[in-house]
Amino acid sequence: MRATARAQPNIALIKYWGKRDSDRNLPAVGSISVTLEELYTTMHVELDAALDLDELLVNGHSAPSMLPRVARCLDTVLGAGRLRARIISESNFPIAAGLASSASSFAALVVAASGAGGVERTADELAGLAGKASGSAARSLYGGFVELRNDGDEIAVCSILDGAAWPLRIIAAVTSTTPKPVSSGEAMETSRRSSPFYSRWVEEQDMDLSTARDAITVRDFGKLASIAEHNCLKMHSVMWASRPPVVYWNAATIACLERVRQLQADGVAAFFTIDAGPQVKVICLPGDESQVVEALTTTPGVESVLSSGIGAGAALMTAD
Ligand code: DP6
Repeated sequence: MRATARAQPNIALIKYWGKRDSDRNLPAVGSISVTLEELYTTMHVELDAALDLDELLVNGHSAPSMLPRVARCLDTVLGAGRLRARIISESNFPIAAGLASSASSFAALVVAASGAGGVERTADELAGLAGKASGSAARSLYGGFVELRNDGDEIAVCSILDGAAWPLRIIAAVTSTTPKPVSSGEAMETSRRSSPFYSRWVEEQDMDLSTARDAITVRDFGKLASIAEHNCLKMHSVMWASRPPVVYWNAATIACLERVRQLQADGVAAFFTIDAGPQVKVICLPGDESQVVEALTTTPGVESVLSSGIGAGAALMTAD
């Protein structure tokens, strides 16, 4: 009746942006990500017949605004006639600020809820359930380099390469911890409805996925760097051209991009990516990590810098 699970956020190298079917939360495009190691969400779910309503605590505080989405996810995992639950979520990094906390949270939630309900599920089934709550969460069920495919009626996720086979480092420059003004789901819909670049974005995605998949398979850092930066800037261009425009960046975001360009000019193997928030994530080879951390830490407007390797997928820790 209770279980605890842990899942890491993932950072998209080829982005999911746009929904093909909002009711079923099916993505309009495939995506490729890396699952982080050191950042994680621990989720505890306890089913209790004595409860009349679900209860949610996030990082020690009651979180009624997040409860409807969490409750819907529990209904999907356990059925609408389920017992009410006490849910306790703890993340060791800033949440709702573009560091993919919804990915780690929903991945951990489906694993913990299945464990509490005593339901055995495969990673694929869990990924499908997590993806219904948040598209990117499906990728956090797997470790290493992960692809979310867009070719069926159900969400399908697979691992492309184990993290140990190419142990890149991911450095996140946190430029603001204020929760984002517009959720990614809402912003995607605005882009789909109004951005003149949206259809081209969708059309080109298979090409970008194939380039990135090949680069990962042969561990070609330069090729991955070039396609990941291109895909990221293309996604943000789609958002910027939407009506109303969606701009998640701040001045420090741009300062970080300039800093990465300087590092590249100095011969450092590093590239950036940015999600639905102002944080900049820099991917680099392990030998260059200290130089990247030093460069980002001293960039004006950067509040903190987090470092991570590539980790394993979501896991059940305890169930009884
Ligand atoms: C920019 O997975 O948060 O991080 O399915 O509506 O919950 P919903 O969207 P979400 O979108 C993530 C968008 C992104 C790119 C990515 O992670 O691929």
